[in-house]
Amino acid sequence: MFKPSVAVSLMLLACTLPLIWAQSPSSPELPAGPMQAKTTTACTECHDARIIVQQRLSKAAWTKEVDKMIKWGALVDPQDRDALIDYLSATFGVDKPEYVPERTRSSAAKKPTR
Ligand code: HEC
Repeated sequence: MFKPSVAVSLMLLACTLPLIWAQSPSSPELPAGPMQAKTTTACTECHDARIIVQQRLSKAAWTKEVDKMIKWGALVDPQDRDALIDYLSATFGVDKPEYVPERTRSSAAKKPTR
């Protein structure tokens, strides 16, 4: 028997799948580290991790950045602030290799031929 609830579920699935596919490339994860879980919770509430992983900042700049985000509403326990700044500046410091963005189309990654 065809239940209406099944029809509703199928319709919902059909509506949401394109949204899921449209999100590729998927958002990157924050790398392992002492504050990975807390940073993910506090810092991916309003935007995904991509905006963080693409930064290469000094400790002073990360301090400013984190304090700005806290001012904007990031929920960081005052006890965690310093450790969070340490984690970010150790992981995304100015000495780290340049960030290479993921491309949506594989063809876009090919070097142009001249
Ligand atoms: C209350 C929402 C919110 C939270 C929580 C939040 N951010 Fe943001 N963040 C923003 C907004 C808004 C922008 C600027 C708009 C944009 O580019 O998306 C931004 C931008 C950034 C940028 C790009 C540079 C800049 O200043 O515009 C970085 C880096 C960043 N956030 C890091 C963090 C970190 C680290 C945390 C965790 C401590 C965090 N964010 C938590 C709202 C938030």
